[in-house]
Amino acid sequence: MDTFVFEGLIDFHSHLLPEVDDGCASDEQSVEAATRLKEVGFIGSICTPHVIPDHFPDNTVPKIAEGVAELRQVYAAAQLEYQLWTGGEISIRDYSVDWFRTHPIPTLAGSNCVLFDYWGAKWSESIDEFVDLLLERDLIPIWAHPERCVVARTERQWIQAMQDKGVLLHGNLNSIYGGDGPDVEELALELLKDERYTFVATDTHKPGVGLEQRIAGMQRLAREFGEASVYRLMRDNPRTYFID
Ligand SMILES: [Fe+2]
Repeated sequence: MDTFVFEGLIDFHSHLLPEVDDGCASDEQSVEAATRLKEVGFIGSICTPHVIPDHFPDNTVPKIAEGVAELRQVYAAAQLEYQLWTGGEISIRDYSVDWFRTHPIPTLAGSNCVLFDYWGAKWSESIDEFVDLLLERDLIPIWAHPERCVVARTERQWIQAMQDKGVLLHGNLNSIYGGDGPDVEELALELLKDERYTFVATDTHKPGVGLEQRIAGMQRLAREFGEASVYRLMRDNPRTYFID
């Protein structure tokens, strides 16, 4: 089987910032994960720790910026040339709209894009209200890996409803690999086939098996949907929306 080689990719969803959530647990793990990402063609990652105020109270916009600045120094000391940008992954809860009306909203690399996820088993008005808040502020909502969200699989109409509102979708490489089970894989492949994702990302948490699965997912994406899909979803669109 051919192995595809890539360059210039941007990973806009990652948990490389150490010791702030369920991602990398140390500087060493973060360096190891980023080294591996670099080997397979990434030039940098947006750090998107989980932003859940009642669960990770330290993951605020200023603290994430401080963490990214420190991690840049760690990478420099390890002689690892790999770009890092600030971001966050907001998990929508009942209190999210009230909270973010009065607290800074993390955006991706200083752009106008905001990454959110949702884990509830039922659809919640909180999602619509949160999306409306972003749109009111001219921010672009990006729904992280809808294929992994139970309600997106059981009540598929919400995917279209969100897209109709102006929400962009991003798929996860681990879903494409099959690492989150056959139902998740099936929806990911369907959304890819229908060209409904604007982006694909690794959502790297730690080095090791989980990261290798994501890299295998990238190879599958290239094999089944073409190398151009990888470049559109993991280089060109991230550049256009977040980095340029
Ligand atoms: Fe994530």
